[in-house]
Amino acid sequence: MTDALSEHIHYLSMPHRSDLYRSAIKSAVPANASVVDLGCGVGVLGIFCLEAGARHVWGIDCSDSIYLAKETVTKAGLGDRYTCVGGSTFQADIGENVDALICDHVGYFGIDYGIIDMVRDAARRMLKPGGVIIPDRIELTVAGVSSDTCRDKASAWSKEIVPEHFHWIDDQARNSKYSHDFEPGELCSEPAALGVVTLDAESPEYFSFAAEITVKGDGIFDGLAGWFNAHLGADIWMTNSPLDPVSIKRSQAFFPVAEPFEVKSGDRIAISVRARSDGNFLAWSVKPPGGASVQKQSTWASTILAKNDLNAASGGPLELSSKAKARLFVLSLVDGDRTAGDIEAIVMRDQPDLMPSEHATLDFVRAVLNGNTDR
Ligand SMILES: C[S@@+](CC[C@H](N)C(=O)[O-])C[C@H]1O[C@@H](n2cnc3c(N)ncnc32)[C@H](O)[C@@H]1O
Repeated sequence: MTDALSEHIHYLSMPHRSDLYRSAIKSAVPANASVVDLGCGVGVLGIFCLEAGARHVWGIDCSDSIYLAKETVTKAGLGDRYTCVGGSTFQADIGENVDALICDHVGYFGIDYGIIDMVRDAARRMLKPGGVIIPDRIELTVAGVSSDTCRDKASAWSKEIVPEHFHWIDDQARNSKYSHDFEPGELCSEPAALGVVTLDAESPEYFSFAAEITVKGDGIFDGLAGWFNAHLGADIWMTNSPLDPVSIKRSQAFFPVAEPFEVKSGDRIAISVRARSDGNFLAWSVKPPGGASVQKQSTWASTILAKNDLNAASGGPLELSSKAKARLFVLSLVDGDRTAGDIEAIVMRDQPDLMPSEHATLDFVRAVLNGNTDR
C-alpha cells in the first residue's frame, strides 16, 4: 500500500494536471453522462466527472489504490454514483456501454505505458458509438540530448565501481528507456515533432515515426529525450515538456545511443522511433553525422525473458515447473468447504517440504490462496 500512497500523491501534486482535467471534463463530458475511468488510481478523475454532473462513474484499477478510491468516494458521499472495479481493465465487464472514457495513462513518452491498447480495448467493449475519449490524441516530441547525468545513467553498469563480471549488462542498459527530468541545457537540439497518435477503437498495433533534428552546439550526443502533449478536449492540452512553463512536471523519457558521439553545431541527425501499442516495445535509431553507422536500440533487447516465457513461445510441448506443481497442489485443496487454515494444515501435514522451510511453505500457501500469482 505504501507504494500506492507515494505513487498517487505524486499524481495529485503535479502542477496544472487537476485543473486541466477539470476543464476538459467540463467541456467534453456531457451532463448526466456515464463514464469509465481506466486505471482510476485513488479515483480522482472520476470524482471530477461526478462533480461536473456525470450520472455514474466506473473506476477500474488493478492495484491496491482501488481500496483508497472506494473509501474516498464513500466518505465524499458519492458512493452510490461511483462503482469501484478491482482488476485489469482488459478483464473488466461493467455490463453497459458508457458515454465517456477517461484516463491518465500517458507515462513519460505518451505511448510507453500501454494507453493505446487500453483505450482501444475499452472503446470497443465499453463505449457507446461516438462516445468521448479523454485524452483522444497524443503528440510526441523528441530532442537530442547532451548530458553528463544521462551519460552516467546509461553507462552505470560498466563503471569501475561495478565488478567487471557485470559489465556485459551495459548492453541491456543502453537498450533501456529511462525517466529523466531534463533541464533545457541538457537538450542539444530544438525539439522535433515526431508524430501523432489517435486513441480510439481503431488504433493500429504498431507505429513507426521519423524526424530530423539539428544540433545547436558542439558536444557529445548521448541520445534522445522524448515527451508528450496529450489533447484532453476543446483547446486543452496536457504536456510534460521540459520547455513548457505550464508543464505538469512529470519526468520525460531518455533513450540512450549505444555509443555517444561528437557533434557540431548545425549537424543534422535522422532519427526513427517504432512502438508497439501495448507500450512494451520501443525501438529507436539515430544516424550520426559524417556517414557513421546508424545506432539502433530497442527495449526488446533489454527484456529479460524467463525460461517459462521462452517455453510458451517455443511452440513445443510444455511442462509444469516445480512451483506450478506446488501451486496446483494448493489450489486442488480448495473445495468450497475447507478454510484457509484447513488447507494450510493439510499442506503442512502432507507436503511440508513444498518449499525449502516450513516458514516458506506456509508463506507460499497463503500467497497462493490470496491469489498472488508472483509466488
Ligand atoms: C498513471 S496512474 C493514474 C491514476 C489516476 N487515474 C490519476 O489520474 O491520478 C495509472 C493507474 O492505472 C493502473 N493500471 C495500469 N494498468 C492497468 C490495467 N490494465 N487495468 C487496470 N488498472 C491499470 C495503475 O495501477 C495506476 O493506478
